[in-house]
Amino acid sequence: MKMHSKHVLPIAALTLVTVQTGCVTDPNSPGLEYMPDMYRSAAVEAYVDYGMDEYAFGWAEQAEQRLVQSARKPVTGTIPFNPEAKAFVMPYPYPNTPVGYEAAGAELQSPLATTQAHIEEGKAIYTQMCTQCHGEKGEGDGALSRNGHIQGIPSYSAKLKDLPVGKMYHTLTYGKGLMGSHASQLDQRDRWLVIEYIKVLQNGGTMPEFDEAGNAVEPAAAGAEATAMNS
Ligand code: HEC
Repeated sequence: MKMHSKHVLPIAALTLVTVQTGCVTDPNSPGLEYMPDMYRSAAVEAYVDYGMDEYAFGWAEQAEQRLVQSARKPVTGTIPFNPEAKAFVMPYPYPNTPVGYEAAGAELQSPLATTQAHIEEGKAIYTQMCTQCHGEKGEGDGALSRNGHIQGIPSYSAKLKDLPVGKMYHTLTYGKGLMGSHASQLDQRDRWLVIEYIKVLQNGGTMPEFDEAGNAVEPAAAGAEATAMNS
């Protein structure tokens, strides 16, 4: 008898557990989770939606977790590690002062090559984010200018014809006059891309000539060729 009851109890317990865990009809449910702490972190995870996972959390926990911020700001001074994009992750060195503006204009060069693809990417950004003020052709006659909300927007091909790219980048980063900073909407690469298109608008909308690979042919080289042909 003693031997018998010794076996019956564990078997009954095992059956009970099997029945309990097998009882869930919803195919999305993970069933009974034995020691959930082992696979559900007590720490807040970035990509877990604590508001939705009804199987893992009770209503009280869900309500509480919704108020917890899971995505945190990077530590001040840290730089994202991305060797392929290292030209676009460094902090901007020029201060938001007239001296910084002049220095950027004199020193800052675009890390991007002038290619057909870059100009087209820049045009897409320009069309979405700049035409409302600057106008499709960059003459300062966008809708917000025509309806009088923002006045005095300079034309790229007239007043800003010789504006260096460093000043454009500085203005996109910090803003200038009635134009706000675009640093939060455009990452560094996007800012340089849109500048590729502004250079076209400075040139009255005329695209540079491209070689077969889509790289712009240097205007100086084209000029030299013309001189050579004339002489
Ligand atoms: C809200 C209207 C507005 C929007 C949107 C806007 N700009 Fe401007 N932008 C201006 C005004 C106004 C100025 C003249 C600022 C000044 O010199 O006081 C200006 C000036 C500029 C200049 C000349 C800066 C300089 O250093 O003199 C550039 C380049 C420029 N904008 C590019 C852009 C680009 C690229 C976009 C889109 C990503 C854009 N702007 C979006 C209003 C706008």
